[in-house]
Amino acid sequence: MNYRHAFHAGNFADVLKHAVLAQCLAHLKKKAKPFRYIDTHAGVGAYDLTSSEAQRNPEWQGGIAKVLAAKRRPEVEEALAPLLDVVRAMNPGETLTSYPGSPELAARMLREHDRAHLCELHEADAKTLDQRYVRNAAVKVEKRDGYKALHSLVPPREKRGVVLVDPPFEHRDEMAHMAEAVRKAIPKWTGGTYIFWRPLKDLWASERFDVGLAEWLFEENYATPENILRADLWVRDLEAEGKLAGAGVVIINPPYTLEAQLLALLPWLAETLSQGEGAGWRLDGAATDESLSVEEF
Ligand SMILES: C[S@@+](CC[C@H](N)C(=O)[O-])C[C@H]1O[C@@H](n2cnc3c(N)ncnc32)[C@H](O)[C@@H]1O
Repeated sequence: MNYRHAFHAGNFADVLKHAVLAQCLAHLKKKAKPFRYIDTHAGVGAYDLTSSEAQRNPEWQGGIAKVLAAKRRPEVEEALAPLLDVVRAMNPGETLTSYPGSPELAARMLREHDRAHLCELHEADAKTLDQRYVRNAAVKVEKRDGYKALHSLVPPREKRGVVLVDPPFEHRDEMAHMAEAVRKAIPKWTGGTYIFWRPLKDLWASERFDVGLAEWLFEENYATPENILRADLWVRDLEAEGKLAGAGVVIINPPYTLEAQLLALLPWLAETLSQGEGAGWRLDGAATDESLSVEEF
């Protein structure tokens, strides 16, 4: 387990993933009933952008820093608001020095009765995560394999909530592990919102995951096409050599407001965070023919 998220914190892929997560949590907060947030691959919780890892190849400068500096239309501002509220609260001064990981984003959005359950397998990272929330009774940290844990964590007592599955993709069989974990969890809790992050690197593998997941959900009657949304962003030509050019999320049971928000956000992100030729975005229902939009700049 060599993956260190600190090298990537706040990059374009984090911004999209965290904007989606924050919108899902904000939607749950519209009702008074409590919810639970489940994070299978939590990381260390929050990131110091002045650390040597974040400075070595400052990907956040091409992500969250550009987002904050750019002019945002009202509908883009609305789509980003729950994420940017947390980022601003963590950076009260003029300079951007901290960025929330998914745990911190959730921890700051929880209300009194909401709960978070975080799994992290890396020894040192799990310890850091545990120390961060040791005094927060609403947040439970487990040093545990999130794939193996997931089916035992659902359904949560609250019966409302969000699951984020955000693996490091260090191994070629990561998509298969993700698919296996999902197939055990969803039958136990069909009503939850699930967010699956995956890189757009091996495009064949990500397509196979997306389409396989959607087809299985339809076949088993766990979801209909309206219950699935796929949002992808690429900042360079996806075929280009070098570091990650694209990534995105597949969301099961998205809030009904999310599609319109992403339709405003994705083209703006592709334009604002473009790193050259071929940046683009996609918003559709994964396995369905009804592709909502695919655009290139
Ligand atoms: C992409 S990072 C998570 C980032 C975090 N979700 C965020 O948005 O801030 C993936 C994390 O998963 C951890 N990890 C790897 N395999 C795992 C497993 N099987 N179960 C739980 N955590 C794992 C890694 O140590 C790493 O911290």
